[in-house]
Amino acid sequence: MSADYTLGLTTQPNELTQLSLDVQGRIPSWLRGTLVRNGPGQFEMGQHHIRHWFDGYAMLHAFHIADGRVSYSNRFLKSKAYLNDQATGKLNYIGFAQDPCRALFRKFMTLFRADPGNNAVVNVTRLGDEFIAMTESPLTVRFDPRTLETLGVLDYDDDVAATLATAHPHYDSARGMGVNLMTEFGLQTKYQLFGITATERRKLTEIVSKDIAYMHSFGLTQRYAVIAQFSLRLGSAATVLLSGRPFIENFKFSPTTDTIFTIVELDTGRVVANVPTDAFFAFHHINAYEEGDEALIVDISAYPNADLIKQLYMEPLRRGETVDTGEFRRYYVPLNGKRATYERLVDVRVELPRINYRRNGLPYRYVYASASQPNQPTFLSQLAKVDTHLRHVTLWQEEGCYPGEPVFLSAPDSSAEDDGLVLSVVLDARRGTSFLLILDAASFGEVARAHVPQHIPFGFHGQFFGGVV
Ligand code: CO
Repeated sequence: MSADYTLGLTTQPNELTQLSLDVQGRIPSWLRGTLVRNGPGQFEMGQHHIRHWFDGYAMLHAFHIADGRVSYSNRFLKSKAYLNDQATGKLNYIGFAQDPCRALFRKFMTLFRADPGNNAVVNVTRLGDEFIAMTESPLTVRFDPRTLETLGVLDYDDDVAATLATAHPHYDSARGMGVNLMTEFGLQTKYQLFGITATERRKLTEIVSKDIAYMHSFGLTQRYAVIAQFSLRLGSAATVLLSGRPFIENFKFSPTTDTIFTIVELDTGRVVANVPTDAFFAFHHINAYEEGDEALIVDISAYPNADLIKQLYMEPLRRGETVDTGEFRRYYVPLNGKRATYERLVDVRVELPRINYRRNGLPYRYVYASASQPNQPTFLSQLAKVDTHLRHVTLWQEEGCYPGEPVFLSAPDSSAEDDGLVLSVVLDARRGTSFLLILDAASFGEVARAHVPQHIPFGFHGQFFGGVV
């Protein structure tokens, strides 16, 4: 038996261009810009099937919003991975859990260099005038947010040799730069923080590590970067080379291996503390901030182990098997040599968390996330607004509906943290289509929805580019 949400795991072959959508409700006139979302749009190539949700071929979706109206476009990202595989009819690119073509994989791992077969499926961001799609590679792919045309790899004239980069860069407004965490494989593993613009990558720090932690995101306070080395580890890069197994399957979760919070001072690149805590795993940091000089508060959508990665293979997902959702954990990370501890802020399980990014690195109150109930471990079927002060949750849900990551937008001249809108793309399994849902962030009530005449496969992350229409 398959679950009713499997449509969200099904290829969408139709590419639409600026299709005007039916809108229910009234969209505020100040909302003007383009929401671009990224995620897999195709799950097979020729006779070959994608094994893991994270490895579908990237498709960009754009909701152009102006004057209360919405139009929709979607395009496959014409990455080298997609174009090569389309030309050969074979699934050959090196992905997250894809069974690697041995010869290609050896070459990639022997050189310890990222192969430019970049299926940039995870996220999008803006660097100056450049709009880029990202996966966990230092190579990002440029696109035009108006047409969704692919413009090629963003080239840097530098000698950055990292193998991995997160698809969750931060923006450090005080220092006016993007910040990203990269990992360089080699005889030694090095975690590196870079300050990033559209034209330059400047190394802020480099930390030599004895093993390799799989890290999908990191935290940023006003003074510090928070690198959480989760307990999903790989002994050395050579293991990947010798095993011939898909990339992520070389990593092992150890319940007896502490997770380590490495705290790096941004101005100096100095490691100020390595703070251990009991083993856990996460994809997404929520926010982090300083509590005086003594400690950091680090909020994370956390898991007691890394079973989620196995649950997100296409076969168990399509069968409707259990999918864990993260606990909202608040870690207290002392800088005085003691261990970090946590408490669970709310019972509702959260993933794909977003905040009012103006509060990133600062004490804050609200989190928006896709969600599920603790006793109903199924695919994300709710949206949650978490009030971290009152530890109260407001939910949005509708039967047969599966909402994706909620993106928060501040209203113009807003002062309250939750004065704004929340945008989420929802799969309506009963109608077999998707819609853009717009909620009032304060009340979490519906403001409007715009119906897309076809389904949008479940995606990962997106950004709203204000003024870009
Ligand atoms: Co992510």
